[in-house]
Amino acid sequence: MPMNAARGSLLGIEHLEAAEILKILKFARRMNPDRPRPLLKGKRVLLLFYEASTRTRSSFEIAAKTLGAHTVLVQAAGSSIEKGESLLDTGYTVRAVGADVIVIRHPNAGAPHVMAQHLDVPVINAGDGLHEHPSQALLDAYTILRNKKSFKGLQIAIVGDIFHSRVARSACHLLSKFGVKIILCGPEELVPEVAATLAPGIRVTRHIEDALRGTDVVMLLRVQKERLSGLKIDLPEYIARYQMTPARLKMAKKDAVVMHPGPIIRGLELTSEIADGAQSRILEEVRNGVPTRMAILARAMGRMR
Ligand code: NCD
Repeated sequence: MPMNAARGSLLGIEHLEAAEILKILKFARRMNPDRPRPLLKGKRVLLLFYEASTRTRSSFEIAAKTLGAHTVLVQAAGSSIEKGESLLDTGYTVRAVGADVIVIRHPNAGAPHVMAQHLDVPVINAGDGLHEHPSQALLDAYTILRNKKSFKGLQIAIVGDIFHSRVARSACHLLSKFGVKIILCGPEELVPEVAATLAPGIRVTRHIEDALRGTDVVMLLRVQKERLSGLKIDLPEYIARYQMTPARLKMAKKDAVVMHPGPIIRGLELTSEIADGAQSRILEEVRNGVPTRMAILARAMGRMR
């Protein structure tokens, strides 16, 4: 975290201590999206979205409102960002308007850090380029703990485009801090060998059977068709080798759960039987996004007590 980032900022998981992660998760468990808790009464949460978002944006907004805050959404399209205003000038502007917390999603890695370095309000990273997506990692950890009770002895297989995934990067940092065995699986171009050095306890494999054997959690990641063009592996081959199907899921532990940060592409990363099946936790992840982000926002305002 930049030296002078405001207390309560959440810029990434990599430098967050395990104890702090557990504190956030514990507080999230006390949050009920159906029961308003005015911890942020009268505060203004600015949602600055330079990239498309459905789940992240709506759940930050609902979380903020449930805590009694006002929310203002600024999207790149239709704002002065389109006119060429710099990131920092937009930051100074929303601060001057009265933002108490800034939630930012940006296509460039490090954009939230720049913002945090120059503004005296907490900044929350809602996804920065290929770097991190800390609130997603926290809601995924929350979901895992809801289903598996503890991280102890767990094995997770993360399958898909790991190279382009900030979700995978943040998940690896988080789960590694708790000793979870992490197996990254996919073709070489999407899962480079070097991904194993991201954090301790990570192994890379090209074979789905290898990744699924003995696995408690299967996390699938979006694969963008465009990203396969020009690679050694084409779409039909990706599907043939890595798509999650009921037959494949049987290779994992009997009580394994399937996760995906969304957006899911049915017929690509997974079949509809998997997406809608009994082992899918995909919508539960979305639901858990709200209490998790309530905790993140309460923490940002020093109200996580
Ligand atoms: C992800 C993202 O934007 O990083 N989505 C999300 O926030 N749930 C994953 C993706 O776009 O593939």
